[in-house]
Amino acid sequence: MADLRTNFLGIRSPNPFWLASAPPTDREVNVTRAFKAGWGGVVWKTLGSEGPPVVNVNGPRYGAIHGADRRLLGFNNIELITDRPLQVNLQEIKAVKKAFPDRAMVVSLMVPCDEESWKAILAAVEETECDGVELNFGCPHGMSERGMGSAVGQVPEYIEMVARWCKQHTRMPVIVKLTPNITDIRHPARAAKRGGADAVSLINTISSIVSVDLDRMAPTPTIDGKGSHGGYCGPAVKPIALNMTAEIARDPETHGMPISGIGGVTTWRDAAEFIALGCGTVQVCTAAMTYGFKIIDEMTAGLSNWMDEKGYATLDDFRGLATPNVTDWQYLNLNYVTKAVIDQDLCIKCGRCHIACEDTSHQAIANMVDGRRMFVVKDEECVGCNLCVEVCPVQNCITMQPMAAGSVDPRTGRVVQPGYSNWTTHPNNPMAQVAAE
Ligand SMILES: Cc1cc2nc3c(=O)[nH]c(=O)nc-3n(C[C@H](O)[C@H](O)[C@H](O)COP(=O)(O)O)c2cc1C
Ligand code: SF4
Ligand code: SF4
Repeated sequence: MADLRTNFLGIRSPNPFWLASAPPTDREVNVTRAFKAGWGGVVWKTLGSEGPPVVNVNGPRYGAIHGADRRLLGFNNIELITDRPLQVNLQEIKAVKKAFPDRAMVVSLMVPCDEESWKAILAAVEETECDGVELNFGCPHGMSERGMGSAVGQVPEYIEMVARWCKQHTRMPVIVKLTPNITDIRHPARAAKRGGADAVSLINTISSIVSVDLDRMAPTPTIDGKGSHGGYCGPAVKPIALNMTAEIARDPETHGMPISGIGGVTTWRDAAEFIALGCGTVQVCTAAMTYGFKIIDEMTAGLSNWMDEKGYATLDDFRGLATPNVTDWQYLNLNYVTKAVIDQDLCIKCGRCHIACEDTSHQAIANMVDGRRMFVVKDEECVGCNLCVEVCPVQNCITMQPMAAGSVDPRTGRVVQPGYSNWTTHPNNPMAQVAAE
């Protein structure tokens, strides 16, 4: 059976699944339930400075996007950091860590952007004997308007400065949690590294309005007739998180920096994808809030079974294996030619592929053959775009088949070339011609 044990910055956990800083990690009773259920670690709900705790709205704080089957696809919240007194949180963190010494206990922090505030909170948190801290530079609502959260995460110089203070004032590992509300994620990640941070975690939530209530004419969630933007998360944000993770993993300046992957992790497969892009752990929020802590059973069993099938004994055996295969468009192989092929035994003759290709692609799927309703790809028109595969309601009914080198592509009349050739040297690329001259 595969070994799921994880060592991230010296923080050990029995599996790579940590609960992200959010309501599931807000208090002792929740975290105890989570650890009993089998979660490998938690990042405790973000703590603020000593003093009167923040105040949350008393009305709805969540919104969602649902699929046609009412499955939750995207989740939105306008919640702030913990609204419980600092001392209560610290006592509970200490108690839970003592009760579960084998689990990762990381504490999320967000305090005003001055050195004294960070020094003070770090000293207090160290006394809990937790395993590390995560700096919340990501929250896009409520706290950012007060100069914290994503207001810091959007300015690489601030990230570097605060990371440096934290490394000076604590012996604990420091993880910088990044905001996706930025154009190029590499800049804040590089800043975290320059500041001496031990790792980055990403993503925090994406600024969003999930819907407008057309009766009240206000964004949802609606508080007495008004709404404000919130933070988007859940399955819908996973592609954004994976891309940002890959950008950091393959950037020469941050390559090799430990990453904790967050954003839409709902199944073991999502976790495996983040790990394949180099993540040391994954963090989960929305899936736990939607389905409860027991999903950890399917996550660990699924990951372990898949690793057994593939012959991966430990997480290190496949960590980062997908990163070298992430490239820029200009390096994709232009000699690689594919055609769509429809499996007539699986086809239910719904016609969606035909309509999609006819109206918006290359008119490459016939809907009639010898006077009968039948869907067949015309190789002489097919550009291999894959749209039909994505719109077909039957999984694996349409597949993309590569053409053999040496055969003639009936669309272009050209022989499919062997080997690899990309845009940088293509004759149609004006820059390639300039370089050649
Ligand atoms: C209700 C709610 C509250 C959250 N509170 C925090 C927080 O206090 N600190 C923090 O760093 N992230 C917070 N997050 C963001 C999550 O930790 C996580 O980064 C994000 O939800 C993406 O993961 P997911 O797609 O698994 O939900 C919160 C998310 C939700 C939904
Ligand atoms: S791959 Fe694209 S062009 Fe080819 S049949 Fe499908 S939709 Fe049409
Ligand atoms: S979309 Fe799929 S099932 Fe429907 S006609 Fe096309 S190939 Fe057949």
